[in-house]
Amino acid sequence: MADASRPTPDVPLVAAEDLGVVFQGSQGQITALDTLSLNIRKGEFVSVVGPSGCGKSTLIRVFSGLLAPTRGRALLKGEPITRPRGDVGIVFQQANLLPWKTVLDNVLVPSRALGRDIGPAREKALELLRLVGLEKFRDNYPSELSGGMQQRVGIARGLAHDPDLLLMDEPFSALDTMTRDHMSIELQRIWMATHKTALFITHSITEAVFLSDRIVVMSARPGRIVKEVSIDLPRPRTVETLADPRFAAYCAELRALFEELVHFD
Ligand SMILES: Nc1ncnc2c1ncn2[C@@H]1O[C@H](COP(=O)(O)OP(=O)(O)O)[C@@H](O)[C@H]1O
Ligand SMILES: [Mg+2]
Repeated sequence: MADASRPTPDVPLVAAEDLGVVFQGSQGQITALDTLSLNIRKGEFVSVVGPSGCGKSTLIRVFSGLLAPTRGRALLKGEPITRPRGDVGIVFQQANLLPWKTVLDNVLVPSRALGRDIGPAREKALELLRLVGLEKFRDNYPSELSGGMQQRVGIARGLAHDPDLLLMDEPFSALDTMTRDHMSIELQRIWMATHKTALFITHSITEAVFLSDRIVVMSARPGRIVKEVSIDLPRPRTVETLADPRFAAYCAELRALFEELVHFD
């Protein structure tokens, strides 16, 4: 018998079909995305890299159901995404924790907003706090945590309602370099433990190569996909991966591509 919880192999979990977004700015129309098509398989970790202003956050907003595209469709499990949904989780650039709520209550915010049963949601939240290494801080307030710890709470919150798709918009860009490297390793561990499908936006080529199964490179505005690079490196990737010549070769390939894009401007 077919397992109904599993999408058929030829239906991608996430898809963008000819997606276009045009904003009405004060100086006229701005085409943020231009006929962008993308498929993401269940369980895949895909990163999007591209110059500033190329429409990366716009793409995340469309997938989160917060912004309707001007043309084309965004699909999750074959259904158009038309509003925020319980099967999508989001991690933002800033952790955006509520300062008057404890760590545990911050993680529970989406579950409460979705009207989930709070008993099981609490269990799940505590399990995630264990996973991100912050179980001991469950009753602390955000101001008592470092930036990296706050962002780990943000990741736990993004996963708390057990979404199928985790969207992350430059989640580590506000952190210092040392913390970022550590967070990449942490995120890979969390992703491997939860088997989520992930769409990750970053400015950092090394971060994208370290984390991804596939990297999508976007051109400057209007945002189009100019290249997709599959990263064939064994997992789990570790600090040793950073010294692997194949890792360096992927980074060099992507950097060269970026140089071309900038000259194109
Ligand atoms: N609400 C909006 N109104 C008008 N222009 C916008 C709006 N949101 C984004 N833009 C413009 O769309 C383009 C893409 O923005 P964004 O998706 O934030 O880029 P990125 O995240 O890649 O830096 C930019 O030129 C930005 O100024
Ligand atoms: Mg952005």
